[in-house]
Amino acid sequence: MKKYPMNKDTQPNLKNADLVDTFSRTISYLRLSLTDRCNLHCRYCMPEDDTKGLEVLQHEDLLSYEELLRIVSIAVDMGMNKLRLTGGEPLVRKGVLAFIARLAKIDGLDEIRLTTNGVLLAEKAEALYEAGIRKLNISLDTMRPERFKAITGVDRFHKVWQGIDVAEKTGFDVKLNVVAMQGVNDDEFVDFAKLAVEKGVEVRFIEFMPVGSDSTWDEASYISSSDLQEMIAKIGVLEPLEGCRMDGPARVYSLTMPDGKKGRVGFISPISHHFCDTCNRLRLTSAGRLRACLLHDEEADLKKLLRSGATDNELRALIRQTILDKPKGHTLADDQANCSGQMSRIGG
Ligand code: 5AD
Ligand code: SF4
Repeated sequence: MKKYPMNKDTQPNLKNADLVDTFSRTISYLRLSLTDRCNLHCRYCMPEDDTKGLEVLQHEDLLSYEELLRIVSIAVDMGMNKLRLTGGEPLVRKGVLAFIARLAKIDGLDEIRLTTNGVLLAEKAEALYEAGIRKLNISLDTMRPERFKAITGVDRFHKVWQGIDVAEKTGFDVKLNVVAMQGVNDDEFVDFAKLAVEKGVEVRFIEFMPVGSDSTWDEASYISSSDLQEMIAKIGVLEPLEGCRMDGPARVYSLTMPDGKKGRVGFISPISHHFCDTCNRLRLTSAGRLRACLLHDEEADLKKLLRSGATDNELRALIRQTILDKPKGHTLADDQANCSGQMSRIGG
């Protein structure tokens, strides 16, 4: 099995200028949503239609693992070198571990990361590690079991908590993603910061975004990273960590408590400090559509092209075109309506 370099931020591989967009950004990072299904139903991600229930894609609507392997190989051949697997919940898709092990053999792919809700981690962490994953982002918005049930619709807090422990013991680099929602979990931000110190995991607070046409977002539920930072600075000293600026969109700080203990907290601020000018991402949705920006609805139908018998060069040309069409940035601050796509299909 191929070994991945650990904790090493690789430079974008510029062997092919096809990755450079019209704003001089190098699009070297692909996010694959493997399924829109999930074993949780977070209110802000999968709002149910009262009349129809939740609509999910059928198996044939998803790209098969063979199709995904072909697309990733082409993207890596173009120079892309980082991959993140998302969902819905990626670990609910059948055969995902064997798929990851095959991805890990693709030459030129430096790193595969995974975003999960943690529900299946206790049972799958070891196999995931063996398949080649080293870094996990685990989504957790509350540490209170009853609130967990209210947010996600399912009583699984203890399972996730156990999953985090097992993942750490297995040797993963674990980051916790906390969506910061005023009136929902704002009384826990400080507890999460303390957790970062006590447990030694990096906790990243994400500004709540208005994603999806029937999103539960409203202005009153939004809290900015700077307000959050202010709350956390009351319990300890926050200092920006140099060199972590490049750790994706998160601004990472060390938090030093009065007793000298330290932790790491990050702030992801898509609304208040958008990071569009350094964005290096391209997304492939679970419906097989290429999406250049989370917050713009334009998508290219890669699945249709793929299933029409396209050659590798034709697929490559569509990836290239999507990169060229990548917008300069989003306009969420002045216009709330440009992402009606469902988060569970796009993958965050
Ligand atoms: N705003 C901010 N973050 C979100 N996520 C899902 N929906 C939203 C939203 N509307 C988070 C998930 C997960 C990551 C992929 O994105 O909690 O951690
Ligand atoms: Fe599932 Fe993640 Fe969406 Fe919650 S945010 S429903 S865990 S995909």
